[in-house]
Amino acid sequence: MLDRLAINSIEIYQEFLIAKLIKSGFNMVAPKIGLICGSLRKGSINKALEGALVRRLETAGTSAHIIDLNDFDLPLFHGDLKTPPNAAALIKTMADCDGIIIISPEYNGGLPPLLKNAIDWTSTMGREHLDGPIYAIASCSPGPMSGIMVMRQINYILTRLHAELIPVQLGCGNAETAFDKKGHLIAQPASDLADKMIGQLLSRIAQKG
Ligand SMILES: Cc1cc2nc3c(=O)[nH]c(=O)nc-3n(C[C@H](O)[C@H](O)[C@H](O)COP(=O)(O)O)c2cc1C
Repeated sequence: MLDRLAINSIEIYQEFLIAKLIKSGFNMVAPKIGLICGSLRKGSINKALEGALVRRLETAGTSAHIIDLNDFDLPLFHGDLKTPPNAAALIKTMADCDGIIIISPEYNGGLPPLLKNAIDWTSTMGREHLDGPIYAIASCSPGPMSGIMVMRQINYILTRLHAELIPVQLGCGNAETAFDKKGHLIAQPASDLADKMIGQLLSRIAQKG
């Protein structure tokens, strides 16, 4: 929740809002945060985490935008395939965001193919989706380890692509008890990490202007 965000993060964010407000001639648009989930599964715990983050982002005054990989339907990457137009559409959608949170399950200690495929396709085409938004990483797992290995790998891949990432990662383990009946994230330390992650993301966006 906003009242639990780090105080200096909020101050920097407020300065950002004021600066943007003036720059926009008092016709301000809230920062846009895209959320990409590496699972399309019905009943996905990572989708549940995505939903909980959308609420917190909206409470913090941002415009949260789910980027659903289902909408882009990218074929499995193959070097002989012509680049599908949807890869360009995904790049544009991502580049339109001030920040992007990637929320992913861990498969055998690594990335689900859906997510790796989307990263690989978009990396063959352009840089605006990597150079523009600030990135954050989250993962939800049924067990206690909270997707720590997949978060490390996403961090590695994005760093290798020269994208900018904030340091706090949101690991949410023991998913069965992590959310209340309304879908709010209630488990600790995941709940505090979510606030820290959002605070850092907004602060960095604010600094970048
Ligand atoms: C192929 C496969 C490999 C998996 N490997 C891991 C793993 O390495 N670590 C882990 O915490 N969970 C692993 N799981 C369990 C997933 O975390 C669990 O199925 C989770 O619910 C998937 O995320 P979702 O609910 O968002 O679809 C694996 C699941 C599958 C299908």
